[in-house]
Amino acid sequence: MKPIAIRVRAGETRSSYPILIAHGLIDSLRAHLDTVAKGSRVLVISSPRIWKLHGARIAKALPDARHLLVADGERAKHLRTVSRVYDGLLAAKADRQTVVVVVGGGVLGDLAGFAAASFLRGLPLVHVPTTVVAQVDSAIGGKVGVNHALGKNLIGAFYPPRAVLSDPGVLATLSAREFRAGLYEVIKYGVIESPRLFARLEADLPRILARNIDTLVPVIAECSKIKARVVMADEHETGERRILNFGHTAGHALEAITNYRRFRHGEAVGVGMLAAAALAHARGALSDDARDRLFTLIERLGALPDVKDLSAAECAAATGRDKKVIRGTLHFVLPVKIGRTEIVTDVTPAELTRALRSIGLRK
Ligand SMILES: NC(=O)c1ccc[n+]([C@@H]2O[C@H](COP(=O)([O-])OP(=O)(O)OC[C@H]3O[C@@H](n4cnc5c(N)ncnc54)[C@H](O)[C@@H]3O)[C@@H](O)[C@H]2O)c1
Ligand SMILES: [Zn+2]
Repeated sequence: MKPIAIRVRAGETRSSYPILIAHGLIDSLRAHLDTVAKGSRVLVISSPRIWKLHGARIAKALPDARHLLVADGERAKHLRTVSRVYDGLLAAKADRQTVVVVVGGGVLGDLAGFAAASFLRGLPLVHVPTTVVAQVDSAIGGKVGVNHALGKNLIGAFYPPRAVLSDPGVLATLSAREFRAGLYEVIKYGVIESPRLFARLEADLPRILARNIDTLVPVIAECSKIKARVVMADEHETGERRILNFGHTAGHALEAITNYRRFRHGEAVGVGMLAAAALAHARGALSDDARDRLFTLIERLGALPDVKDLSAAECAAATGRDKKVIRGTLHFVLPVKIGRTEIVTDVTPAELTRALRSIGLRK
């Protein structure tokens, strides 16, 4: 089947790269690489876990490629792992004609993408995202980077890839929890931009949870389109790209106050969206019906990690340390209906605390 194709214009020259989405795409990687970087040598970067599951197919599709495996997961997302990628690039005698193909989730895409951006001042990069988060979010938009001991994603760059090649078929091997965590970000796209996507999620949730591929492909494509549109409008996150932070103010704070151990990122965003919807509803900005639809859809995904032992006031205070605070003002993404948000700057810690308490956090 012909892949769904989306073009993203990026960088100073506004040159464009394709996002291609199709079931079985990883079996034809060679042909797709040839169209974006003809004749180049290929170095695949992946992790032991992903390689065990999908390496044989990738190696068959790219018989001439070397591969380098490094640890993934949030705890591996630091400069030491980037350094291991540099070692591997040197051992493979990579030069500027070597294409780095990252096969992995958001952690690997960000960290190996950063290595590709900086090695020899930039090697051509292709993302083959293997998680829901990576396919609908992190592989699109050119942000690469790693964490520092003092904070997440503090070291990084904007480095657009040559292509994003998404095969929703590889999502079949994700754990149920990882898969669901990605779906909260999918719901986010519905709320910020697409009532149609939201309604489709309401109607098709059982088939999506069962990872029915015919249902999944158009959903991944719709989210990819929204992300592409938003990053094209605001590549460097000075304005519109901020709407992507819906659910992330409380979400990031919840991750931080639990030392990144309790929640998968998407789960924290799930709770964050509940908080944002409760806050918007309490202000009279969001109707009963819209709030109920969002709450119901989030609940139907399954149980979220417990929050009742977490302090609402502590969580609200933690949002003050967020990067969405610009010159002392918190920019909060307020849902105003399904498919539309507004950015407001007058949310007080007390108001956020009330919203967090209403969704189950303690005092
Ligand atoms: N660059 C951006 O714009 C952007 C946007 C959103 C998120 N991110 C980053 O993405 C990261 C989170 O990404 P993630 O949620 O993909 O996590 P992840 O990369 O840690 O992957 C989660 C787990 O799934 C495993 N895995 C990956 N693909 C698999 C598959 N097909 N089958 C089975 N297991 C598989 C991985 O080995 C890992 O253990 C965060 O570090 C976040 O900062 C970046
Ligand atoms: Zn997110």
